[in-house]
Amino acid sequence: MNGYMGEGKTVVVTGAGGTLCAPVAVDFASRGYNVVLIGRTREKLQRTADMIAAGGHGSMIVLADVRDEAAVRDASERIRDRFGACDVLINGAGGNQSAAVTGTDEFDARELEDGYPGRGFFSMDMSVFRDVVETNIMGTVIPTRIFARDMAHRGRGCIVNFASMNTYRPLSRVPAYALAKAGVSNWTQWAAAYLAPAGIRINAVAPGFFVNERSRKMLTTPSGELTPRGEHIIHNTPMHRFGEAEELLGCIRWLTDDDAAAFVTGITVPVDGGFLSSAGL
Ligand SMILES: NC(=O)c1ccc[n+]([C@@H]2O[C@H](COP(=O)([O-])OP(=O)(O)OC[C@H]3O[C@@H](n4cnc5c(N)ncnc54)[C@H](OP(=O)(O)O)[C@@H]3O)[C@@H](O)[C@H]2O)c1
Repeated sequence: MNGYMGEGKTVVVTGAGGTLCAPVAVDFASRGYNVVLIGRTREKLQRTADMIAAGGHGSMIVLADVRDEAAVRDASERIRDRFGACDVLINGAGGNQSAAVTGTDEFDARELEDGYPGRGFFSMDMSVFRDVVETNIMGTVIPTRIFARDMAHRGRGCIVNFASMNTYRPLSRVPAYALAKAGVSNWTQWAAAYLAPAGIRINAVAPGFFVNERSRKMLTTPSGELTPRGEHIIHNTPMHRFGEAEELLGCIRWLTDDDAAAFVTGITVPVDGGFLSSAGL
């Protein structure tokens, strides 16, 4: 654990008010990093800041939409004024939207009819589809471009992106999200190769299934039972359970440690209870 201490380094965590990245931010703070929390909703970020404060540490909240280049640049300037250049960037902001999820696993001929009440690919609102792609892809690319520039000036830095099981094979019903998370992994490889001469390592973590506010509705019923989709996932996860956010911390500590992971760049690491290893039968 001592090898993972921050010694006054600065980490910027986007999506820091969320299920997975709130514990990530708390973990960095507990290891002596200056922690910057980025998101769009102050209340969510404040909850994370309160958890960090409960451990006796401070943090900085910066409201910014990661799709908005000017807002992220402004954020980076405020962060630089306070802490200097960012050492570590965690691109955690992202996720899906329910209006970009199809109601069936496969094409249903009824979706070609006027007034079809369900949601198929053909009746999906393309502006929401585009928004999911933009949030996950441009919401990763934009902070990378802005914070990595400072890192490149200093000749060192480290970035972790958030991929998904969809990176490897698209799950049913989530076309925009699957497309975007495949893109995140591809981008991780491109950026790692491009920025290696600048002394910057870029990797991704691919969480398996962790229940968050949005996925809870897809995976569990209001009474807390598993939905058929939730059951399917648990059946296909050899450890037969969902992950806990804290179970990502070891991987992120390793990937962001310049000694332990000195020669590691461009990879996407699954933390998935074995989901990718199982053929499901
Ligand atoms: N949970 C899982 O099972 C799972 C699995 C694989 C991958 N992931 C990925 O892991 C990351 C974290 O997921 P999570 O489960 O913690 O989701 P979450 O609880 O919904 O947290 C995501 C956070 O991102 C922020 N965010 C979303 N869009 C943003 C934007 N445009 N600008 C700034 N902040 C934005 C949200 O806050 P605001 O809305 O307030 O901005 C939210 O706090 C995401 O990239 C997700 O796709 C999750």
